[in-house]
Amino acid sequence: MALKDRYGNPVSTGSAKAVAAYDRGVEMFLSDRWGAGAVFEEALAADPGFAMALTGLARAQATDAPLARQTLARAEALSDRLDARERAHIGILKLVLNGRAAEARDAVKVHARAYPRDVMIVQLCGSVFGLIGFSGRAGREAEMLDYVASLLPHYGDEWFIHTLHAISLCETGQLDRSLAVMERALAQNPLNANAAHFKSHALYELGETRAGRQFLDGWLSGFDPRCALHGHLSWHSALWALFDGDIATMWRVLDDSVAPGGSQGLPINKLTDTASLLWRAELAGVPVPPDHWRVLSDYAARFFPDPGQSFVDLHNALCHAMAGQGDRLARLAENPGGFAGDLVPPVAAAFGAIARGDWDSALGALVPALAQQERFGGSRAQRDLLELTYVAALMRTGRADEAARTLRLRRPVIAAQLAGPVTPG
Ligand SMILES: [Fe+2]
Repeated sequence: MALKDRYGNPVSTGSAKAVAAYDRGVEMFLSDRWGAGAVFEEALAADPGFAMALTGLARAQATDAPLARQTLARAEALSDRLDARERAHIGILKLVLNGRAAEARDAVKVHARAYPRDVMIVQLCGSVFGLIGFSGRAGREAEMLDYVASLLPHYGDEWFIHTLHAISLCETGQLDRSLAVMERALAQNPLNANAAHFKSHALYELGETRAGRQFLDGWLSGFDPRCALHGHLSWHSALWALFDGDIATMWRVLDDSVAPGGSQGLPINKLTDTASLLWRAELAGVPVPPDHWRVLSDYAARFFPDPGQSFVDLHNALCHAMAGQGDRLARLAENPGGFAGDLVPPVAAAFGAIARGDWDSALGALVPALAQQERFGGSRAQRDLLELTYVAALMRTGRADEAARTLRLRRPVIAAQLAGPVTPG
């Protein structure tokens, strides 16, 4: 009888030792714990022909795309001895690693119906940076909740699905349910960085700054800085410090754990989180030395020279504008492409106008992007960058009443927070 992984999927190996190591690697990968790659290697040491361990290793190597593609090719070479699920699993990862995101998203949905407990594939559509999150489609937050809800009957009381469910609930405004589900997920797997992350989102959306800081700073103290989420969780922590008026801590966390040179995380997080925090600090009246924008614009130009990832392009537009890098900004304003590429030129125009002090023009330019900001992907907390820029533009153009009303209408939790130590504009 074929061996099965922890989630009940048959796996093509005869080595129980290899499966045990694979299961540990999957748990570590899905929890964003350091060392998953080495554990998948352990599985391969027990059975070098274990294709699913190769797919896990390829996922752990995703920051080095050529290496990940090589590893996946080793798995694909074993196809003759694999079952239909394993072959489809490899096919989807091949689409992802070759940048064919829309095809991968459709394939994941088909796969999840046939093999709802193939967690490493299911997970690809289950986050705000995932294949649905970065689809650029209107309604994608509801689409993700619908996707996760369709999986619930196939799982019991398990931290993996609770984690996906909780962030889907959070981003569609079901905050109390989200927090309750996430507390359960964390109790079952306290080392799960995704659960700590999504709990932080629920607390952010509830306006629980004090409780959020207490929880997250405590959790982060035991978290390996080499893990992918460390930098982004530090952004959450620094943002709460800003909300609290604890500006010295905000700068310390930014420099040590969020910004390029401090964070050991992924370029997309270093760039977008640093740009976001610098801008939200400026909007809150905290002086940001211009050099910060110049350094970040150079980083963006080095790591993301070609427009096309719309969430990144949104933040690139901000840093190029604030750094006075008109040529770089112009490239984004022309024809950026990407899943929400039509929204990037208005944002680039808005930030360009703000950099010139022309807040009136910025206000007009922001409207189409703000109307569809969900399509940029990422979380509501991240896209508050746009909401707050719009409110600041209203205030700078003498529309204080409209600014206050807009904030209460669109982001009441932020309106309540801004009654605290720092105010926008
Ligand atoms: Fe986040």
